[in-house]
Amino acid sequence: MLERLQKIIAAAGVTSRRKAEELIQQGRVTVNGQAVTELGSKADPARDRIQVDGRPLRRSSKLVYLLVHKPVGYVSTVTDPQHRPTVVSLVRGVKERVYPVGRLDYHTSGILLLTNDGEMANFLMSRGSAVPRTYQAKLEGAPDSEGLRQLERGLVLDGQRTAPATVRTLGARTGRDKPWYEITLVEGRYHQVRRMFERIGQPVVKLKRVRIAFLTDEGLAPGQFRHLTPAEVQRLKGWGSKRLKSRRRPRAGRSLEAN
Ligand code: URA
Repeated sequence: MLERLQKIIAAAGVTSRRKAEELIQQGRVTVNGQAVTELGSKADPARDRIQVDGRPLRRSSKLVYLLVHKPVGYVSTVTDPQHRPTVVSLVRGVKERVYPVGRLDYHTSGILLLTNDGEMANFLMSRGSAVPRTYQAKLEGAPDSEGLRQLERGLVLDGQRTAPATVRTLGARTGRDKPWYEITLVEGRYHQVRRMFERIGQPVVKLKRVRIAFLTDEGLAPGQFRHLTPAEVQRLKGWGSKRLKSRRRPRAGRSLEAN
């Protein structure tokens, strides 16, 4: 059956659909020996010989979904030009090639999904998915009420307003310690949490991600990973289709970009 090339590449676990489009445009994809650079080109994964950077796609690899607790000092890319440790190197005993869904900064710890399911990764990283991600941030000092209001209402970063966030104080461990705050975002922009707190005058000194949708760091020490259960995978997929359906059928008077 003919399918779009970027969809076939993502489904084979090479990368997300968006990144696959870039690979195609960069001339790194061949079909039966011919480079294909036009987006929208189709191929038959069962019959055509598809290669990315000269390497054939693996056919029908098993879909794997992992939750990793990234320690500080790891990069969340598959390889690193500076040879720093990668989150992928924490995964042992899994023969499928998995890659991170989104990023955590080098200095941020916390949970990260890794998968070879390009469709799922694509959805979770898309703007419209609005999957909530919760972070705990230790700050230089306590924000004032106007600062907190700005975070909750959204503030302008790179000329674009951030989506409303939920913020609550977790207090300080001792009277002399710096305070911790918890913030939940429904989008993932570059260094977003750090830049938001910086903007209100209270820079982040420590940051960790403790929740993605319903998945938490419970029972996962830094450096450890686990497979998602089949029920968790179903729930994540259900989340995707629920969101997509509600975006296709907006109620009258409501913006499609409510998040
Ligand atoms: N926001 C940040 O600033 N850093 C991260 O790693 C994740 C969200």
